[in-house]
Amino acid sequence: MTSERTFIAIKPDGVQRGLIGEILGRFERKGFKLVALKQLVPSRALAEKHYGVHKERPFFSTLVDFITSGPVIAMVWEGEGVILNARRMIGATKPLEADPGTIRGDLAIDIGRNVIHGSDAPETAVFEIGLWFNSEELNSWTPSDQIWRVEN
Ligand code: RTP
Ligand code: MG
Repeated sequence: MTSERTFIAIKPDGVQRGLIGEILGRFERKGFKLVALKQLVPSRALAEKHYGVHKERPFFSTLVDFITSGPVIAMVWEGEGVILNARRMIGATKPLEADPGTIRGDLAIDIGRNVIHGSDAPETAVFEIGLWFNSEELNSWTPSDQIWRVEN
């Protein structure tokens, strides 16, 4: 399997609640590689593009209001199977339905305050990484302990 990249964002509730370190730590401990990270307050235009697939849904404007309400932590993580695995680590959209051990299952209760976003497929990952980051902001690097993470 080839290595892939995914877009992950800690939403304003996660930042306000002091959960940045907790969430970063889970991805670090798993062994995935952080290749980009920044804090920003998303513009409305950015948020509307990011959640464009939901633009006809009744919750769209509330969702855009929320995601633009304060700083978010935007990240790109890399590794084999990272897109699907990050979604599994994040858990179900409704935190009360998310399994214990997942980020939403452990750290959230409300669908509108579910702490974290993760790309849901290879095509959305490419789209979202390009939307949130310039190519110069993405770092290709090899962790010094890489041989202890993957055999080949
Ligand atoms: P995300 O995109 O934020 O990672 O969340 P997701 O894939 O698990 O869920 P998605 O269906 O893409 O929905 C995006 C966000 O919209 C809010 N939502 N509210 N009130 C509702 O019925 C409803 N449905 C979705 C959630 O905050 C969800 O994370
Ligand atoms: Mg989604």
